Amino acid sequence: PYEFYKEIRPHDAFAKVKLVSGIHDSWVAFTYEAAEAVLKDERFVKNPRTVFPDVSEHELMPITHSMLFADPPDHRRLRSLVQRGFTPKMIQRLQGRIEEIAKIQVEQMKGKGTVDLIADYAFPIPIIVICELLGVPPEDRLDFQRWSNSMVEINDDPSFYEQVEVHIKEFQLYIEQLLAEKRIHPQDDLLSELIRAEEDGDKLSVQELYGAIMLMIVAGHETTVNLIANGMLALFTHPEQLKKLKESPNLIDGAIEEILRFNGPVEFSTDRYARESFTFMGKQLQKGDHVLVSLASADHDPTVFSWPDKLDITRERSPHLAFGKGIHYCLGAPLARLEGKIAIQTLLNAFPEIQINTALANLEWRQSFVIRGLKELPVKLK
Ligand code: HEM
Repeated sequence: PYEFYKEIRPHDAFAKVKLVSGIHDSWVAFTYEAAEAVLKDERFVKNPRTVFPDVSEHELMPITHSMLFADPPDHRRLRSLVQRGFTPKMIQRLQGRIEEIAKIQVEQMKGKGTVDLIADYAFPIPIIVICELLGVPPEDRLDFQRWSNSMVEINDDPSFYEQVEVHIKEFQLYIEQLLAEKRIHPQDDLLSELIRAEEDGDKLSVQELYGAIMLMIVAGHETTVNLIANGMLALFTHPEQLKKLKESPNLIDGAIEEILRFNGPVEFSTDRYARESFTFMGKQLQKGDHVLVSLASADHDPTVFSWPDKLDITRERSPHLAFGKGIHYCLGAPLARLEGKIAIQTLLNAFPEIQINTALANLEWRQSFVIRGLKELPVKLK
C-alpha cells in the first residue's frame, strides 16, 4: 500500500475515500500531522453507542465492550484494570520466560531445513505468552486463531460474514466455560483478577469482562506475530541491514523501532466516529462520520522521516505511530517490543544463515483492514 500512500499523501492529508466496496465512505488521515491530530482529538469517539444510540447490541461485536471501543470516563476505568499487568517493570519480569519459549521453538525447527516462519515461530511465541499472562490454556490456540482472524479479516464473499457470526458465538461459549471454571478455581493470573473486579460489582460488567478477554486474545494474536514476520521480511529484503544487525546485536532496539515504522503490523487504527458536526483540517465532518488513521501512511511521511522508504536500523529519531497515540496508545507496547526483540535475536543467533525461501512476488498478504501481515513466510534455515 505504500506506493498508494505516497501518491495520495501530498494532496490529501485528510480525505474521504471508499475503502471497501459496499461499505460507506470513510475519512482517512494520511499525513503524520493529520494522523496525530485525529488520535489526540477527543471529538473522535470510539464507542459507536455514543453516536448511534439506536444501534442494537446484536449489530455490534462483543469486543466493542472493551477499552479499545470506550471513551472517557469508561475508558480509564477499563484500562486501569488491566494496566498493572503491563507496566514495563512487570513485562521485564517475563524476559526469562519469553527467552525460554523462543528457544523451545528454535529447537523444534532445528533439523527441518525449511519452515514457514509464521506458523513455526512468529505465531506461537506471542500466543503462548499472552495465554500464560491471561491464564488460558495455550493448547487452545488454534481455536483462538480462527476466532480472532475472523474479527480482523475482510472478504467479499457474503458467507464470510455468516462464518464470522458463528466464530463469535463459539468464542463467547468458550469464554463462558472458561469463566465458570476460573470462578471456582481462581489463580494468579489476569483473568482471575478481572473476574474479581467483575464480582466486586461496580468495576466491570459481565459484558465488559467478555470484551476485555476478547481484546487481549485478539491483540495478542494479530500483532506481535507480524512484528516478527514483517521484521524478518524487511531484513531479508535489505541484506546490508541484516548484516549490520548480525555484526552488532546491540542495534536490536533501534531495529525493532525501525521495523515498526517501516512495515508495522497495524496498517489502520481502529474505527473512530465524529461525535458532532465540525470542521477538521479544512473538511466539514458530519456527526457519526467514520474516521480512520493510516498509521502506515503516517509512518512513511517524508516531512517527519527522512528517506521514509528506506529501512535504516540506525535511524536516530523515530516518533513512529505504530502503537497509536493518545489515550488508546497500545497497552501491550512494552510486551510487544520485548517479544519482538527476543524472537528476532534468538532466531538470528540460532540460524545466522537464515534466508527467505520464495520469490518476493509469491508472498501473499492477509486480507485485513487493520492488520498488515503475511499469510506465510517460507524460509531456509541454513
Ligand atoms: C491498542 C498496535 C501488540 C494490547 C493498540 C493500538 C495500536 C496497537 C495501533 C491503538 C489502536 C487505535 O487507537 O485505534 C500494536 C502493535 C503491536 C501490539 C503494532 C505489536 C507489535 C499488543 C499486545 C497487546 C496489545 C501484545 C497485549 C496483549 C492492546 C490494547 C489496546 C491496544 C489493550 C487498547 C488500548 C486502549 O484502548 O486504551 N495497539 N499492538 N497490543 N493494544 Fe496493541
